[in-house]
Amino acid sequence: MTRHFLRDDDLTPDEQRVVLELALAFREDRYLRRPAAGPRSVAVIFDKPTLRTQVSFLTGIAELGGFPLLLEGSLARIGVRESVADTARVLGRQVAAIVWRTFAQADLEEMAATAGVPVVNALTDEFHPCQVLADLTTLAQHRGGVASLAGTTFAYVGDGANNMAHSYLLGGATAGLHVRVGTPVDALPDPAVVARAAEIAAATGGSVTVVHDLVEAVAGVDVVATDTWTSMGQEGEAQDREHRFEAFRLDAAALALARSDALVLHCLPAYRGKEITAEVLDGPQSVVWDEAENRLHAQKALLTFLLEQS
Ligand code: NVA
Repeated sequence: MTRHFLRDDDLTPDEQRVVLELALAFREDRYLRRPAAGPRSVAVIFDKPTLRTQVSFLTGIAELGGFPLLLEGSLARIGVRESVADTARVLGRQVAAIVWRTFAQADLEEMAATAGVPVVNALTDEFHPCQVLADLTTLAQHRGGVASLAGTTFAYVGDGANNMAHSYLLGGATAGLHVRVGTPVDALPDPAVVARAAEIAAATGGSVTVVHDLVEAVAGVDVVATDTWTSMGQEGEAQDREHRFEAFRLDAAALALARSDALVLHCLPAYRGKEITAEVLDGPQSVVWDEAENRLHAQKALLTFLLEQS
């Protein structure tokens, strides 16, 4: 069966553990496994800006023995010049897997339904599941391994309606985390995602909570994460968003309310002085550079899993 990774709950808790263990193993030995040797080609397509995702996928596919085929989104113009389904039919006949960063989750789902090869979400408006795999790898790296993740208290503060909020809810619940989203009342996560995350958490021993106060969100937690207040595609709303989310800035005073050894995550790019202060981002509790590195290891583990399952 062709397996995809379109949203965080496409991996069961057991499968997520396997992928995270493999990600940690790739940290130790980058050439541990080469499931794309041949080389098998993996198409990587960007309809939005990218740095970490492009570098980590292209590097990772090459290290897996494959050929990273970078498709320029503005040339392919998927869904404009040619339908998503027709693009999927063409790509699926030539490449071993497709990695796509685009806007609508529905387009990614259509690609997966038609391609016949694994499709990976490299960020949509709704989810960014590869980032959360990297974040969980980072927590496992800094704490006691994958087995230590369950029961971790995790606060995400800022825009509760964006892709990172949704992926932390689903991916965190899958790992058995207690996920608290701290966000204003006008930036709520999709209720269907919250309900699905709560259902997963009920089985993994985690929990999900949405609160509207920064202090309540971060009090006593093991991990604090944040993200830009203006996601790609929302640039026109930037000024308004700075006002809406100001009360959720992650600064030293907020971090001091978390556990004294709490780790700080940020998927980057970060805007110092906006969603996070320089003091926190560049401070001793921040593990954001490991987090960025772990995109490589986590995605190699994910691609290995998908290519071997499919
Ligand atoms: N929420 C951000 C994540 C960037 C990696 C965005 O979509 O722009």
